[in-house]
Amino acid sequence: MGSCVQESEKTIRWGIIGPGKIARKFARDLTKVPHAELYAVASRHHSRAEAFANEHNASRAFESYEALVKDPRVDAVYIATPHTFHKKYSLICLSHKKAVLCEKPLAMNATEVEEMIAASRDHQVLLMEAMWTAFLPHFQSVIQKAREGMLGEIIGIEADFGFSASYDPASRLFNKKLGGGSLLDIGIYPLFLALSLLGRPVGVDARASYFETGVDSSCLITLHYDQNVKAQIFTTLLKDTPTEAVIRGSKGTLRIHPRFHESSSFTVERKGKKEQFSFTNLGEGFVHEITHFCNLLRKGATESPVMTFDTSRSLIRLLDEVREMAGVIYE
Ligand SMILES: NC(=O)c1ccc[n+]([C@@H]2O[C@H](COP(=O)([O-])OP(=O)(O)OC[C@H]3O[C@@H](n4cnc5c(N)ncnc54)[C@H](OP(=O)(O)O)[C@@H]3O)[C@@H](O)[C@H]2O)c1
Repeated sequence: MGSCVQESEKTIRWGIIGPGKIARKFARDLTKVPHAELYAVASRHHSRAEAFANEHNASRAFESYEALVKDPRVDAVYIATPHTFHKKYSLICLSHKKAVLCEKPLAMNATEVEEMIAASRDHQVLLMEAMWTAFLPHFQSVIQKAREGMLGEIIGIEADFGFSASYDPASRLFNKKLGGGSLLDIGIYPLFLALSLLGRPVGVDARASYFETGVDSSCLITLHYDQNVKAQIFTTLLKDTPTEAVIRGSKGTLRIHPRFHESSSFTVERKGKKEQFSFTNLGEGFVHEITHFCNLLRKGATESPVMTFDTSRSLIRLLDEVREMAGVIYE
């Protein structure tokens, strides 16, 4: 006899690996997604897993990531460790048939991302990069308006992302072994915007400055496209910057208000007239990507039609290219 629970109502039981800062926000937003629950959390330290489970009402607290992955009740795993462990734990999850929503960047380089995509295909299990911006209403509207020609031909993009991070060599942001630096942490957002609007560039110029630990403190990037179109990108952990994006077109200019990657409004200026567009982000913004992922899982999909494998591939290849030009190296 078939299940009387509609597929659309099947509760997705989540496990979280790496209960740090972003995992807290994710867990809070998970409570706002219908038919989804935080079932388990895993930390390398039992007390941290217990504390997180108590704070967010998870049924199980594991003191090893592997133990969580082996629990047959877990349907989906959110991987929120530093970037350098994304590949390792994604592969373990996929081989145990757990769907994976893995934080950005999907991995440290294109070779690692290819391995993860191959594993998702081999095991026929859903894998998606948690590029939450792609699912936010303002971002989807910007892409739609650009595609519909509201701005005419796009002739340039300027976008920055910077904040003053207090220097702590122990924190993942400053630690080379944990994939620290501004580019992979926040530079990925303006690069994702440029990629979404203009595709892969024909050339890349990039320069970086560094902290004592060897990770990049800032990156100044120019992406070159045909017909002199450019995207100029600045990313830094040294100071607060507007974190705004300006998209210039032959018929108008669109400004995504700060912080552009999680914004709820933008302005379009055409023929001297300004028009503002406003949106509502659900929860802290993660509800959109979580809902999308849960729906894919219920349908049995193995790849997102929004954050596709090709998008993750293009993004990591672009990051690799920028790193090569700027000399940002990890062992
Ligand atoms: N989507 C977004 O808006 C957003 C925002 C911030 C960060 N992120 C992404 O999320 C990931 C985590 O960032 P975060 O800021 O949440 O980091 P975080 O606060 O430092 O937390 C990372 C967690 O990973 C675990 N971990 C496993 N091995 C580790 C190691 N060797 N060193 C340190 N921690 C280790 C730790 O949990 P246990 O020790 O308890 O196991 C730690 O709590 C990054 O890839 C980042 O790019 C995304």
